[in-house]
Amino acid sequence: MNTKLSDSDVVELEVVVVATHDAADGIRAFDFARVDGEPMPPWNPGAHIDLLLTPGLERQYSLCGDPNQLETWRVAVLREPESRGGSEWVHERLAEGDKLRIRGPRNNFPLVEASEYIFIAGGIGITPLLPMIAECEAKGRPWTLTYGGRSPSSMGFTHIESEYDGKVTLWPQDSRGLIDLAALLNTPRDGAAVYCCGPGVLLDAVEKSCEHWPDGSLHLERFRPKAGALDGVSRSFEIELDQTGLVLTVGENESIVDVLDKAGVEVPTSCREGTCGTCETVVLDGIPDHRDSFLNDFERDSNEVMMVCCSRAKCDRLVLDL
Ligand code: FES
Repeated sequence: MNTKLSDSDVVELEVVVVATHDAADGIRAFDFARVDGEPMPPWNPGAHIDLLLTPGLERQYSLCGDPNQLETWRVAVLREPESRGGSEWVHERLAEGDKLRIRGPRNNFPLVEASEYIFIAGGIGITPLLPMIAECEAKGRPWTLTYGGRSPSSMGFTHIESEYDGKVTLWPQDSRGLIDLAALLNTPRDGAAVYCCGPGVLLDAVEKSCEHWPDGSLHLERFRPKAGALDGVSRSFEIELDQTGLVLTVGENESIVDVLDKAGVEVPTSCREGTCGTCETVVLDGIPDHRDSFLNDFERDSNEVMMVCCSRAKCDRLVLDL
């Protein structure tokens, strides 16, 4: 239905916060418009943007407004109880009238063609699914949403239950427990697409529940690395940059991107922890030690690409298409 945006669609802009509102306990929505008054760039459901908060502090948030309305872009930000600095900064410091630099849109979570759509959201993971649901509805595609959260007051956007009568099941954990994934996913449905966004435990559980579904049925978006994904023994190895022949050594305490930065070789990055896919780089030779949370098993096993922000090497030298 829509495709990944390419890197050439990504722009960096100065924007102003034109409106904010509380969407639920701990969730604040922000509308951004361009400072120069021009329309915002087009995007499609599933896209996210980077908020460039301070030097060295940037965070990714899904666009959750209406892609047909380009006066503003909207994101909704959960104040994470264990904030690493980003969501706290946004909640404490960002107010109407403030200016900010943002980068995007990127879409690693596009809506594919399918016979039906099974949407599963946990908490703030509802945000990328909202425009997807609107698009399915507009195009008359069958869909359902199961939307879990800690309690009704912590779940933003619950108006969708009445807006899309009969298609949305709200699943507050305090009264219903965990989402019944067995009931939802036990029986694979040919041609159906399962979309899930939310906390890592939900994503892991949905991934496990879909192991017996046809390849390509499941679509996930993570904004945090999988548990343990970044762990492992780190030893030194070499990278050879095919376009220049340059050979660089990656020390045990450095990432490939650190070494490329020092050598003046620019690779676009965003999350720098293997979740966003921005630094995806083609591997021409050698076996990567994949530590990202972005590639699927098939892509991982093919060893054709790697995330150079966090992945390493299982061999002495990797040849990269750089
Ligand atoms: S910068 Fe996000 S995956 Fe590497």
